[in-house]
Amino acid sequence: MNQNTLISKKYHKFTKHSPISVYSNTHILDWDNKPLPFKFYKNPNHIDLPRNFPLPDQNTFVSLEKEQSSFKFHPIKLDILRVSQLLFFSAGITRILKFNNAVYYMRASSATGALYPIEIYLSCAQLPGIKDGIYHFCPADFTLNKLYKGDFTDTLYQISGENITIRQAPITLIFTSIGWRNSWKYQTRSYRHWFWDAGTIISNYLALCNANSFSTEIILGFQDENLNKLLCLKQREEAAIILSPLYTNKTLKKSSNSYKKQLFEFETIPLSKYVIEYPKIWELHTGSSLTDKVDVKKWNKLGKKVLDDKKLNKLNMIQAIGLNGYSLKDVILKRGSTRKFSIKSISKSQLEHILYLASKTIPFDFVENYSLVDAYIIVNSVKELESGSYFYNKNSYKLHKLEEGNFRKVSEHLCLDQELFGNASIVCFFMANLNKILSIWGNRGYRAVQLEGGIRIGKMYLAA
Ligand SMILES: Cc1cc2nc3c(=O)[nH]c(=O)nc-3n(C[C@H](O)[C@H](O)[C@H](O)COP(=O)(O)O)c2cc1C
Repeated sequence: MNQNTLISKKYHKFTKHSPISVYSNTHILDWDNKPLPFKFYKNPNHIDLPRNFPLPDQNTFVSLEKEQSSFKFHPIKLDILRVSQLLFFSAGITRILKFNNAVYYMRASSATGALYPIEIYLSCAQLPGIKDGIYHFCPADFTLNKLYKGDFTDTLYQISGENITIRQAPITLIFTSIGWRNSWKYQTRSYRHWFWDAGTIISNYLALCNANSFSTEIILGFQDENLNKLLCLKQREEAAIILSPLYTNKTLKKSSNSYKKQLFEFETIPLSKYVIEYPKIWELHTGSSLTDKVDVKKWNKLGKKVLDDKKLNKLNMIQAIGLNGYSLKDVILKRGSTRKFSIKSISKSQLEHILYLASKTIPFDFVENYSLVDAYIIVNSVKELESGSYFYNKNSYKLHKLEEGNFRKVSEHLCLDQELFGNASIVCFFMANLNKILSIWGNRGYRAVQLEGGIRIGKMYLAA
């Protein structure tokens, strides 16, 4: 199935915006049926996460720039306090807004339409402060819900096609997406958003991992059905999309057999009165699934050979950037998407720093030091840089002018005629050669490239 890339090509074409598709869409938002942004289990088995965790006061630029390969030793202990920090500053509630009699629980990272489709599960084994088991993280009350007792390392190791980092980790995060949360507004196109919204969470998470010198990997290679079954996810409603082990040393844990004993009925409070299914989402999700261990092992190797010669440069620009700037804590707590730009210019060096920090290596399981996307930029108002369109060379970290001109109307139009994008100093478009990606990785490459776009957007948020 994964190799039948007609599925993703058709999906991509079907969900492309065009003036006709945008202006002829008759979809009306049923506000009375807006999905709950939280997953609540009935009769849960709650554990309060500590709120007195250490705050991430490390410099944001340094945290974005650091590479895991530079971690020679891990001075910080990975325990329940650090895990609470990571969860809060990646996916926790950082602001509460009241608007038109409604309350909005805004999160640490941005999300399309503020609909928050991503849920996080944790598999813990030998993690100080948390008993072995599988948990669901609920940002609403900052709790963990214990689903199963026991050490599931070996189960996840098998599901991931024997990815060794899982055996090194006392904790593995599992990101899932609830389809209806986002399709309520964005319909079939919302499948792309699963990965963009997971990506912005992961950009915060990676910066926090770097700040704490924790090692991690963003794993897309796993047997989908087995992982969904393990978490008892509802078929054609929710699905696992990423695994991410977190560790501080490379000691392999002894394999132990987990015993899957459910601790309570996994019934959840309905998200809304009714759910509309968008079949093309599930067609692509199934079409990009890996079914067995052989499939997963293949996934890990597909790109490594083909792309060996085109690795990202490991340039270190930290001296140029300097150590000024805000801490991660301040950036994440103050972060928010603007609804109105000041129309003041940014400087060329600010733009270069943002692009540089957004282009750093991501620790994916399927490629090393490689990026599937390229940044193209419309410059509307940047000091010392002529307005026009630019290409960002991610290897030389240099901007190349494509065409000079005033493109404010173009950037506005390309972003669905939203005024905000005409007023912006710059608008960055992450582009990819989809045919090439699909020819290497099959449909699952579609997930990967959308995710990478989301992570790089999240990094831009933090750097900006
Ligand atoms: C991938 C992505 C695309 C977005 N696209 C738009 C957009 O087209 N227009 C807009 O006004 N906001 C856009 N947003 C911003 C979201 O609306 C915003 O993140 C969400 O309302 C949560 O608010 P916050 O970022 O202030 O926490 C986008 C966010 C993401 C992550």
